[in-house]
Amino acid sequence: MRSLVFVLFIALAASEFDPEIHRKFKTLPKHEFVSYFNSLNHSWTIAEYSDDIPLSYGANFDANHGLPTITHDVMDLPQQFDARQQWSQCETIQQIKDQGSCGSCYLFGTINSLSDRTCIHNDVHVNLSEQDGECLDTSKCVCEGGHPPDVLQFWIQNGLVTEDCKPYDIQSLYEQQCHKKCVNPSMDYFNDKHFGDSAYQVDSDVDTIRAELVKNGPVVVGMTVYEDFQDYRGGVYVHKYGKEKGHHALRLIGFGTDDSGVDYWLLANSWGTVRGEGGFYRIKRNQPEVGIESRVFAGLPRKN
Ligand SMILES: *[C@@H]1O[C@H](CO)[C@@H](O)[C@H](O)[C@H]1NC(C)=O
Ligand SMILES: *[C@@H]1O[C@H](CO)[C@@H](O)[C@H](O)[C@H]1NC(C)=O
Repeated sequence: MRSLVFVLFIALAASEFDPEIHRKFKTLPKHEFVSYFNSLNHSWTIAEYSDDIPLSYGANFDANHGLPTITHDVMDLPQQFDARQQWSQCETIQQIKDQGSCGSCYLFGTINSLSDRTCIHNDVHVNLSEQDGECLDTSKCVCEGGHPPDVLQFWIQNGLVTEDCKPYDIQSLYEQQCHKKCVNPSMDYFNDKHFGDSAYQVDSDVDTIRAELVKNGPVVVGMTVYEDFQDYRGGVYVHKYGKEKGHHALRLIGFGTDDSGVDYWLLANSWGTVRGEGGFYRIKRNQPEVGIESRVFAGLPRKN
């Protein structure tokens, strides 16, 4: 009984949802709400984005995925870490993509982290193809969402071609077909495959996740998205207002502590470069209602 009360207390203490801000979000015109919120000097600011591309939230992380969970021994970890600087020779780490109006975040988050790792571990520079994710399951459209662990298993069993072979094309995804040839006729689909060797979930312990990033590079993570996340302009995001919208997958590339001492994760989103900090987001660590730590997945490429 005692431990149950204690757990409940922690959950309440960690939640920073603010009913007053939420009420204003519901009632004020958007531009007024934006200046009101930004005048509060929270750790992050918002913007009124003019594009109304329907955002889609495709990643389901609650499925039983059957991957092993790994942990890391305690190691000396830096306070700040940014994979873009650590492996500056790997240009894919810097790239921000745009999934468009398709619930394919799980393909972007996972496959882009695998391009990064193919460069980091094998010194092979490729943009692996999100489009090849159409071959995961042709019984449904990949734009309806899916699971990062399934993408990792596909990478091990079937490999992934590059974007030169299969560039991103939402229209074609709606055909629900596995196209086993390259748009470039001089390329061979099967010859262009790059394979994974292993896939795993990373234990939810913050130091294990930090160690995984420092040792092996970017990972894919899942989070619960609220309406306020769509308004994020910059700073360290802490959930403050808005209803839950669903689950989203992103590529986690680093961590740090801001000037006021808030620990954050550094992530690359796939909603283009206009949103966030040029497409990158910083999110406060250990927010149970956002839930990044409990949904971290990665893999290692097959040695060539
Ligand atoms: C926010 O910061 C500005 C500039 O430092 C200051 O003028 C203002 O009073 C602060 N507002 C609040 C609510 O703390
Ligand atoms: C990956 O794609 C980007 C953007 O199209 C391009 O600038 C870059 O050269 C590509 N990298 C590789 C290794 O093909």
